[in-house]
Amino acid sequence: MSATADIHAYPQAEEVFAACAEFLVERLTTAVRARGVARIALAGGGTPRRLYQLLASRYRDALDWQAVEFYFGDERNVPLDHPDSNFRMARLSLFGPLGIQPHRTFPMISDQQRDPERDADLYETALRRWTAGKVPRFDVTLLGLGSDGHFASLFPDTPALAERKRLVVVNPVAKLHGHRLTLTFPVFEAARDVVFLVLGADKRPSLARIREGLAELPAERLAAKRPTHWFVDRAAAGAP
Ligand code: 6PG
Repeated sequence: MSATADIHAYPQAEEVFAACAEFLVERLTTAVRARGVARIALAGGGTPRRLYQLLASRYRDALDWQAVEFYFGDERNVPLDHPDSNFRMARLSLFGPLGIQPHRTFPMISDQQRDPERDADLYETALRRWTAGKVPRFDVTLLGLGSDGHFASLFPDTPALAERKRLVVVNPVAKLHGHRLTLTFPVFEAARDVVFLVLGADKRPSLARIREGLAELPAERLAAKRPTHWFVDRAAAGAP
């Protein structure tokens, strides 16, 4: 891994969530102080739910959450109220409990459309609005890690891995027998901070590959290309 990987490993999951929450609060606070707004791309899946609950409880007074704009790194192609929706998970664990105004949250899927290609185009337009057409620079992109080395919905052997122009694409994922919406490598490469939250023994093999400096799997490619921060438990990191 040629770029620096800043790894924070803790024995217990709750310690990992707390350390990651502290880091995010510090980075978002810095962004709000510097630019009046902080922009984060949230991770989906199951791991971040506890982190979001912690932010919405222990850290609810840690910063002006209404100055934060909440985007997503990827989304499943399901309605926003579907149990598999990343937006629904964040709404229930973070936006609702924090009382975030709906106009500060940016779901990738617009329900009335149900047209993923149009949703991807609309999201790309929204992102490019910040930076007059250039690649938008998130303050933080929060990511999980798949046991196959994917992050967001950039899965191994999928067409989105090669995308260098568009910011948001519909990515067909054969192993899931469907497609996902996902931000692309240029967006993650441009972020001020890339934060991975990785827990569980099933992630150990792909995390070990990343620490060896391999750069084949999607998360390895990103970690080899730019600095990344990792908040991991002992199960994922392997015995010290
Ligand atoms: C998703 C996520 C995905 C996730 C990893 C890890 O939409 O599922 O964006 O990239 O972060 O698959 O998922 P877990 O946290 O559930 O292990």
